Amino acid sequence: MASIADILTHRAGAAFAAQGLPESLGRVVESGRPDLAPYQCNGAMAAAKIAGKPPRAIAEAVAASLQDDALIESLEIAGPGFINLTPKPDVYADRASALSKDAKTGAEPVDTPRGVVIDFGGPNVAKPMHVGHLRSSIIGDSLQRLFRFRGDTVTSDVHLGDWGLQMGQLITEVARVMPDLPYFDAAFTGPFPDEPPVSMDDLQLLYPRASAACKDSKERLEEARQATRDLQSGRAGYVALWRHFVTVSRQALEADFNSLGVHFDLWKGESDVDPLIPGMVEDLKSRGVTHEDQGAWIIPVDREDEKRDFPPFLLLKSDGAALYETTDLATILDRKEEQNPDLILYVVDARQSDHFEKVFRAADKAGYFDRDQLEHIGFGTMNGPDGKPFKTREGGVLKLSDLIRMATDKARARMEEAGLAQDVDAEEREAVARAVGIAAIKFADLSNLRTTNYVFDLDRFVAFEGKTGPYLLYAAVRIKSMMRKAADAGVKPGDIVIGSDEEAALVRALDGFGAAANEAYEKRLPHFLCDHAFRLAQAFSKFYANCPVLSAEDEAVKASRLALAALALKQLETVFSLIGIVAPERM
Ligand code: ARG
Repeated sequence: MASIADILTHRAGAAFAAQGLPESLGRVVESGRPDLAPYQCNGAMAAAKIAGKPPRAIAEAVAASLQDDALIESLEIAGPGFINLTPKPDVYADRASALSKDAKTGAEPVDTPRGVVIDFGGPNVAKPMHVGHLRSSIIGDSLQRLFRFRGDTVTSDVHLGDWGLQMGQLITEVARVMPDLPYFDAAFTGPFPDEPPVSMDDLQLLYPRASAACKDSKERLEEARQATRDLQSGRAGYVALWRHFVTVSRQALEADFNSLGVHFDLWKGESDVDPLIPGMVEDLKSRGVTHEDQGAWIIPVDREDEKRDFPPFLLLKSDGAALYETTDLATILDRKEEQNPDLILYVVDARQSDHFEKVFRAADKAGYFDRDQLEHIGFGTMNGPDGKPFKTREGGVLKLSDLIRMATDKARARMEEAGLAQDVDAEEREAVARAVGIAAIKFADLSNLRTTNYVFDLDRFVAFEGKTGPYLLYAAVRIKSMMRKAADAGVKPGDIVIGSDEEAALVRALDGFGAAANEAYEKRLPHFLCDHAFRLAQAFSKFYANCPVLSAEDEAVKASRLALAALALKQLETVFSLIGIVAPERM
């Protein structure tokens, strides 16, 4: 489905070609000065160089051949040779009715659907999710929604951090508190109790204590290392205890992700690929992909054409231990065998970029995937007012459940101030406050350029004015309420006719969705969706202020405006579904 800019580009391209100039010069874009004309073509400037003629003369010739085009209402040449174009009202009307009929309201499916694995979330067992995991979850979820929407087959994997030293640290800490549990008796092989000996709250107390103790004492650290090795080589009691850690953590994490509206296809963890490591290492050795270096096994991944030195990929340490990068390589192998995707996206903090670059180069060298099938989708941090990654006032990590509660509390207070959702029952009001709170958090995160840091400012996030999630939800709720009134009054949407600038501007905004969805998809940058939603909501609000809908005198105008409003709502809710927010029915 071609946008209005595409259609005009086609016409202008032909006009350039008629002058013996490249068709590509006819690119028409929305103008930066819609008060002068809604569209513009700047090709005459580049054409001047090619043709050796003044740009204005070229613009005049192009304009002359477009003058009588059935789609064009008016046309002016400005400055040195900008061609300003205004399409006929019918062009807008036709485009709007095509968008209304389209299930995706103007966003194109991809030409060749791909299989895509998205690795995101990445929380760790026994540790509360920190802001990095929150950002990963919000951004990764938006990408999984967008990729599916455009037709790809997506498999999302939470990729739990459930392996490695932190597990040994926990085991040894529990052994200190409850030494008599059967898990610590090396001679006992089971069966072990079904009831977990610790709760999530216990784990969140025990883990920081264990980690601090291991920092303070070498012996304590060695003990934790030994426990990790024992766990990884299958000591029955440790494995049984570790399973409890994973189950207890997973329950808590699932509850958190559910309340955020984020769902994963797979709940795999680092531990799942541990059994693949020995075979993978043997295979890489036998194919000469890895070689020994001071007792360790490495895969060199530096490139000659690169200024910086890139450290080698460390497959096995000299003590034979596998590392975080080994696990990630084994996970790639697992994904090749299980999903064999065309593309794997890793939505992880930008500070892990060297890690992923190493892993991806190693995977390429191993022949698992080409380097360009693996992408690190890095993001900046959410900072506190001190410019450092956000911490609570007590200096701890902010738990997701606490964050949602804070945002909901603030949303509830704001709704009360603004008199919103005050005439519904308490249960519905609470659900609305929650939807507003979550939209505030998600939109605040996604509306920034993914790679930049931003400052946590709940007051700003939860405002009903400005570029915020609550503003957008409210815009949708207002349209919903109008649709209900229309239904009660028996008014039905009809053919779209464009009779005012605000209606044309609304159609132009609607028409931008295809490009926004495409850009967000190609660049993995959800803020293009947020920008689009905001632009659409603003265009709707101008339309609504200037073009009476249900009180329009003319029945045809009323039906047309109602159809435009219905389209705006449909597209707004489509964008919401891509950023993972939900508009309540009323507020
Ligand atoms: N668990 C890791 C962390 O908390 C993030 C995992 C990211 N994904 C991956 N495949 N390495 O930092």
